[in-house]
Amino acid sequence: MATTKEYGFGEFDFPRGWFMIAPATDATSTPTSMRYFGMDLVMYRGESGTVYVTDAYCPHMGAHLAKNTTSYIVLDGEHVEGDSIRCPFHGWRFGPDGQCNHIPYSEDFIPKAAKLKFHHVVESAGIIWMWHDPEGLEPEWELPNFGGHYGEPGWVEWKVDFMGDLNVHGCEILDNMADLGHFVPIHGAKDFTYFANEFMGHIVHQYYSAGHRTLTAEAEDQLVLDTWYEGPGFLQSEMAGTFDSFIMIANTPIEDGVSRAWHALMVKVHDGSRETTDEDRANALAYQEASRLAFAQDVEIWANKRPCFNPLAIPKDGPYGKVRQWYKQFFNPREKAPELQKRSDGLVVTMDKRPGSKAA
Ligand code: FES
Ligand SMILES: [Fe+2]
Repeated sequence: MATTKEYGFGEFDFPRGWFMIAPATDATSTPTSMRYFGMDLVMYRGESGTVYVTDAYCPHMGAHLAKNTTSYIVLDGEHVEGDSIRCPFHGWRFGPDGQCNHIPYSEDFIPKAAKLKFHHVVESAGIIWMWHDPEGLEPEWELPNFGGHYGEPGWVEWKVDFMGDLNVHGCEILDNMADLGHFVPIHGAKDFTYFANEFMGHIVHQYYSAGHRTLTAEAEDQLVLDTWYEGPGFLQSEMAGTFDSFIMIANTPIEDGVSRAWHALMVKVHDGSRETTDEDRANALAYQEASRLAFAQDVEIWANKRPCFNPLAIPKDGPYGKVRQWYKQFFNPREKAPELQKRSDGLVVTMDKRPGSKAA
């Protein structure tokens, strides 16, 4: 395990951005504890259906708001009331604005300082997302909409695969964006025709075109992928292969240098003009499983490698350095981002064997 400071990314230990924190089914009216960004947190679903994430410790005397099974607050079903959460220790209750709105034994006086920190959370595509911001600012960009495919007719929605808690800094996961050299040995790619990265502000793309030993139906078929990060927290990828599909791979820091990873994939099984059948769903799940196994090939490397502060990179490796340069913007004050982005913005073509290209 190695920390942000050891990699030299910037001022903050944890980056700014949207991060997956749980599959939506984990958010219920029973508050649950979680740990991300080096913080103890509590998630619950209010009676309106909205999901909330708060700091774990009560401002009154520091009780943990979720880790309790024996208090009468919990036993009597008073833990979540409306969209408020009640502390199991003395029963102080906090609303979504963070303010304490009820003290059972002090109806006439509630101190202003009785305020609980609520974090910025959105439920989308069957997942709970949190905006993390070391400066405490509002989201800098909107949560992406996953190609608009979630819930779209003809598409089978993803189920989320938990991939483990890894003793690896997020940057080593992001290195994959530039890593042309690993696709043949790790993933069984073959017959590469194109590999490039484009850096655009807080977004980085990978453009990929190659065959695959098992993922394509015909020997000469190409997998064509546009893969990108909008911020440091999760990858999205539009893949054209045997099926059109859309991949999401999330990495969320738990501690500095420890990352939780998930994988999900949704598949277009028809053009939306007919009903989706059980067979379609089975095909989609089998395709998701093939993609999960491909990602697990990366995960096995990360779970066992030592930290790499300075890759011994050769020109045909792809621009690791640029990806890491791009990554720095999220560990520094927002006002410095334009300056940092200027150092990575642009297109880097690592391989181009398309007919008519210079290198072909
Ligand atoms: S510690 Fe939470 S109400 Fe007292
Ligand atoms: Fe990979």
